[in-house]
Amino acid sequence: MSSTSSHARWTDARLLEALEEVVERELNRHLQVFKEWMPHEYVPWSRGRDFDGPLGGEAWSVEQSPLTEVGRVSLVVNLLTEDNLPSYHHEIATLFGRDGAWGTWVHQWTAEEARHSMVLRDYLIASRAVDPVELERARMTHMQNGFVSDNRHSPLHTVAYVAFQELATRISHRNTGHASGDPVCDRMLAQVANDENLHMIFYRNLLKASFELAPDQTMQAVNEVVTNFRMPGHGMPGFERAAARIAIDGVYNLRVHLDDVLLPVLRHLKVMEMGGLGPDGVRAQMELGLMLDGLTAQATRFDERQAAIRARRAAARG
Ligand SMILES: [Fe+2]
Ligand SMILES: [Fe+2]
Repeated sequence: MSSTSSHARWTDARLLEALEEVVERELNRHLQVFKEWMPHEYVPWSRGRDFDGPLGGEAWSVEQSPLTEVGRVSLVVNLLTEDNLPSYHHEIATLFGRDGAWGTWVHQWTAEEARHSMVLRDYLIASRAVDPVELERARMTHMQNGFVSDNRHSPLHTVAYVAFQELATRISHRNTGHASGDPVCDRMLAQVANDENLHMIFYRNLLKASFELAPDQTMQAVNEVVTNFRMPGHGMPGFERAAARIAIDGVYNLRVHLDDVLLPVLRHLKVMEMGGLGPDGVRAQMELGLMLDGLTAQATRFDERQAAIRARRAAARG
């Protein structure tokens, strides 16, 4: 591609068409590395028993849970996030289309994602890990609200967003498993995190191809997406409170977001070192650099506050 044509503005339709062959190649690569796994094998069914209600079993109470408190909070956030799959499917099917390689990917991805809410819910209910009534009511509210993508105006912004979001989800599942206090839960979430990692690689490779085709527009999209990033579960009931708890306990916070999500993708694609940009691309790259400097300073202040909270907690325990 000559440098003059790469600086011309791409319409969404032309970009989607040009990326289709990349989607096909990446889909084939994905299908080769993806290993089938069975959600039912990860659920400790032997822990299960009847609940109160029509079967007259035992009602849930918190002492039955094998999880730490942050494990309970975080698993509910992660499950409700996975539960909104119909909305996510709608958003990407509308933007990427349901035909050709794009359509095959959209359906493959949706089928893989459906395992996540399945295995998480089965684990939580069989293990009596969280209040099943509260969980079901939260699912209803959350799905009734649905999810509207911040990036539905642009396929390029969407590709950039999902590259970061799949990694964010991977890290969130993995760290939740580590903090859960239950090795069975940790193993299940490692398996789910592995799927999210493969999704991240798919979209990251697509983002790389977008940089090659349309460097300036892709730089602008990445800058805007990183600046405005919100977790997909941001609209769920009690999200702010849960997010604060998850942050303090180190499962997901600004430090994690910066070091384990934003920087690995940006470094892998060499976004900050990228040359050959036009004026719009250079401006977006500079803005992105300033944004990252700001986030680094904020993350350092967060680390200090977190250390102080931990010290107070340790002192209170004596
Ligand atoms: Fe997922
Ligand atoms: Fe995913």
